[in-house]
Amino acid sequence: MKILMYSIYAFDKPFIENATHGKLEIEYTNQALNEDTAKLAEGFEGISLFTPDNASDSVLEKLYFYGVRYIALRSVGYDYVDLKKARALGIKVANVPTYSPYSVAEHAVTLLMALNRKIILGQKLMQMGDYRLDHLVGFDLHGKTVGIIGTGKIGAAFAKIMHGFGCQILACDPQENEELIQQTNLSYTTLEDVCKNSDVISVHCPLNPETKYMFNKSNFMLMKKGVIFINTARGTIVNTEDLIDALKMGNIGAAGLDVYEKEKTIFFGNHINKKLEDHLYTILRSFPNVLITGHQGFLTKEALERIAQTTIVNFNAWAYNGLSKNELK
Ligand code: NAI
Repeated sequence: MKILMYSIYAFDKPFIENATHGKLEIEYTNQALNEDTAKLAEGFEGISLFTPDNASDSVLEKLYFYGVRYIALRSVGYDYVDLKKARALGIKVANVPTYSPYSVAEHAVTLLMALNRKIILGQKLMQMGDYRLDHLVGFDLHGKTVGIIGTGKIGAAFAKIMHGFGCQILACDPQENEELIQQTNLSYTTLEDVCKNSDVISVHCPLNPETKYMFNKSNFMLMKKGVIFINTARGTIVNTEDLIDALKMGNIGAAGLDVYEKEKTIFFGNHINKKLEDHLYTILRSFPNVLITGHQGFLTKEALERIAQTTIVNFNAWAYNGLSKNELK
């Protein structure tokens, strides 16, 4: 099977090369899939995509025209693919359902701890020779209430870490995880309750029509003043304009973001010496109490190995009998 991998970077290519076996002929491009780059897939039966790509309705039509029948995503999330359209065209799509939930959960904790204990500011001050502690006061996590939105694989890993810190955990998820209740003494409640009662809120649900802008003015207003808000899930779950207003008003004490709603034009690229056109992002980045990372939650060796292995397994299964167990329905 001839495969083109879009959005391949120096950080993931060696893992894919190491994992490759079977009768796969793989070519790579660092370009993201969009209306203009769909043509690169001409003559390839399979393509592999990652979060910077955009497999919208019209892009999928082009891909089908060029001969693409299989798409293996190198991610858990599949919000950047129009699955309904792919199904209608008969293009099979598979994801990597699990790789390392710890990678993202631990990154969420990293953002939380760096914000709470003012690690970035402390480092900057020290480098300038200012060893005063006056601006660096944080709070104990022990005994605080942590709200978790989505207790699937990543949310559960995050809950266990927070339980280890001695936090009370509130969660909201339409699918309650009984085992997690036993393990962490977590209580399921409504989104409203989580917002009202948590000192820290961390988002771990998928982006879909129901969760788009789930965090907006109305629930930012409900939150405890000074709450630390963490989002490592998807940017569009949060209304960024409303988040900026909540930060300005001090409702939100600090925000740790690994994702941003318009990240596709910024993240994963080199913008040194370029003016960023995204005004909203420029404002967000300017807050001293906002810590942004460029969608690197998944970026551990263990996760990259699993992503590469599962992607190759998906293609080999399709090449062998046209069926992969990770196909998205
Ligand atoms: P998962 O499918 O195991 O868990 C998602 C959970 O969210 C499920 O329990 C589901 O019932 C729950 N959920 C769905 N709708 C909800 C709603 N309206 N309110 C509350 N909960 C809801 O997925 P997993 O592996 O835990 O990943 C979660 C998300 O993390 C992915 O969808 C992806 O967007 C994001 N992610 C981010 C990465 C990064 O590098 N920053 C890497 C991997 C995933």
